[in-house]
Amino acid sequence: RIFSIVCIPGDGIGVDITDAATQVLTKLSSTFGTFTLKFDTLDWSSKNYKERGYYAPEGGVNSLKKYDAIYFGAVGWPDVPDHISLWQMILPIRTTLNQYANVRPTKILPGTSSPLSACVADPSLLDWVIVRENSEGEYSGHGGTTPSTAHAAHTVATEVSIFTKVGCERIFRFAFETALSRPRKKLTMVTKSNAQRHGMVLWDAIFYEVAREYDGRVEYDKMLVDAMTVRMVNRPESLDTIVATNLHADILSDLAAALSGSIGIAPSSNLDPTRQFPSMFEPIHGSAPDIAGQGIANPIGAFWSAAEMIRWLAGADGASNDEGLVEGTGVGHMVEAADCLMQAIANVTENGVKTRDLGGKSGTREVTDAVCEEIGKV
Ligand code: NAI
Ligand code: MG
Repeated sequence: RIFSIVCIPGDGIGVDITDAATQVLTKLSSTFGTFTLKFDTLDWSSKNYKERGYYAPEGGVNSLKKYDAIYFGAVGWPDVPDHISLWQMILPIRTTLNQYANVRPTKILPGTSSPLSACVADPSLLDWVIVRENSEGEYSGHGGTTPSTAHAAHTVATEVSIFTKVGCERIFRFAFETALSRPRKKLTMVTKSNAQRHGMVLWDAIFYEVAREYDGRVEYDKMLVDAMTVRMVNRPESLDTIVATNLHADILSDLAAALSGSIGIAPSSNLDPTRQFPSMFEPIHGSAPDIAGQGIANPIGAFWSAAEMIRWLAGADGASNDEGLVEGTGVGHMVEAADCLMQAIANVTENGVKTRDLGGKSGTREVTDAVCEEIGKV
């Protein structure tokens, strides 16, 4: 089967790591020979925004619907305000394509060290999946500034969070299904309903409503987001699957990435669990202007995201279950291919081929070549 993938490298190291990821994916599909990946590339970048006045052209986001998946690098550059790059690119893609679940796994790779070793006896027990609500909450974009000029003496700005029953229900159901699919069957819900008394209270209430369907099958608990940061550092082994709002999960997943050794290894999947539209896969890091163009960006977050993309595509021909979620049937050994890529990454870090953020001396190119070589061996 042929899958068509659209790549949007974006800015800065987004370009380097997308190149590296397509190289690794090409190696993977030629090694397995049971599936083919066809790549198109779109130049939706800050450079083009400066020249043309837009990131995606008119109708651009809708044009992504014809692909099987979207592979994204990173967007943002110092000469464009970040809220413009985010709102013109990544957020419209997530909302237009119904990518309401953002999945962010975290673990410590072999041969790498975690800052957690200063806090706990066995940091290797860190093995989490953060499920981020990706369509509403604090990033709904509602609010405004009055008067509209920010410099008037009595300016007031509001940033309105939106929580809907439907939005909460679907993300909790997805999170419970994720927890159920993992060995420990454990879900922690993150909230701030002590201080935020409307949206967060609804969020909690819907969680317990959905939780009833999973009673006895998934063990679950609730954490206030501030206390959650402490628990992540002091008792990492007590967590497994985590579900949090758009903002909370954004922050917690950067902490999770740092605890696992580097933000450069962390992947993310923006999923439309109904599979009506293509899902999008991207490392969680940004364009890293401070190291862009130096050939030293860690490509592992990009490779891990690529592995998640292959795993997702493996379910492409699956049938919808009762929850409206599609269960994979496995297309042409693609699950094995995803596992193979993860094993190749682990072998490479274990062998000490690591970029500087992981304490190594290798560049992007060296790590990429080493991963390709391992794929050939696995
Ligand atoms: P960042 O993730 O780009 O960089 C934070 C720090 O981590 C930097 O010191 C950087 O060098 C390092 N780093 C990040 N990825 C790395 C990698 N693969 N290998 C080695 N080191 C790595 O976050 P920052 O600096 O806050 O944002 C830079 C730009 O990226 C901004 O314009 C921001 O809006 C954008 N951004 C875009 C995202 C996206 O496209 N989804 C996500 C986060 C930020
Ligand atoms: Mg972030």
